[in-house]
Amino acid sequence: METVVSGIRPTGNLHLGNYFGAVKNFVKMQDSHNCYFFIADYHSLTTHPTPADLHGNVRNVLVEYLAAGLDPEKSTLYIQSDVPETSELYLLLNMNAYLGELQRVTSFKDKVRQQPDNVNAGLLTYPTLMAADVLLHKATKVPVGKDQEQNLEMMRTFARRYNNMYKQEFFPIPEPFNFGEQLVKVPGLDGSGKMGKSEGEGNAIYLGEDPKKLRKKVMRAKTDSGPTEMNQEKPEAIKNLFSLMEIVSAEDTMKHFDDLYNNCQIRYGDFKKQLAEDMINFTAPFRERILELEGNNEYLAKVVKMGSEKARESAVKTIKEAREIVGFRKFY
Ligand code: TRP
Repeated sequence: METVVSGIRPTGNLHLGNYFGAVKNFVKMQDSHNCYFFIADYHSLTTHPTPADLHGNVRNVLVEYLAAGLDPEKSTLYIQSDVPETSELYLLLNMNAYLGELQRVTSFKDKVRQQPDNVNAGLLTYPTLMAADVLLHKATKVPVGKDQEQNLEMMRTFARRYNNMYKQEFFPIPEPFNFGEQLVKVPGLDGSGKMGKSEGEGNAIYLGEDPKKLRKKVMRAKTDSGPTEMNQEKPEAIKNLFSLMEIVSAEDTMKHFDDLYNNCQIRYGDFKKQLAEDMINFTAPFRERILELEGNNEYLAKVVKMGSEKARESAVKTIKEAREIVGFRKFY
């Protein structure tokens, strides 16, 4: 089985866009790959979260990913900072990471623009920390979205450079895991293309969304004055609502409203009511599991402990060898 590593930033709640964009595929991969999924809390320090918030954010993400179907019996689920070997490999890799190449990374340049008063070395070396995450388990596949492609390219560079420098094939060169066709694009509720929390509160539907709030969000979604010609093309905002319906509703429900649209008989109020109810049904099992897990400290502790033990098995082995390769020897 191929080894896969992916990190999850401890920010925000999971929405339908995240679920269909990546999480659902993570869940599937668990059966066919040796998966390591971790919560990237070291990475989150680059933006200086307040200490009081950090743990809660990590816990929240843990709960939601478990609720979404990550299975601690199938995968290794851990918290990055529970595996300190990560930071040692980060240190070793940093010795072969060059200022120029790190400064050229697009996401670094974006951060410099976003937080000009806090351009710290952690931000600059974000790609080496990511490389440490992946190389620590000698993973061969990394499932990442478009926004992480450059970081993946950097990991490949660091792995190759280490191997060349010490003249051995120690780290496999990780490759992108491409979900390709399986990726479902989820539009937002605001009429513009993509579901995301940065597009505004009303744009995203969360897996743990309260039904009342969900209904409100859907009913507020933008529509227009309705079709005036038979079979006319749908404008963007309406098309998006149909795409959302396609994801959560039964096929004949979708067809029913599509026919009404094409006959100029659609009533958007009814359409959105149906969409909201189907979204509530779709998210209900997730919401239930989130509520259940949120109150179960004992289970969460067990999951995290088991995960860190499993993760450290491969981490300790890699670090021991990597130290020897660079030339560290014990005096005692
Ligand atoms: N940078 C990734 C993100 O923003 C999270 C991440 C950290 C990651 N380490 C990783 C992803 C290692 C893949 C592999 O989403």
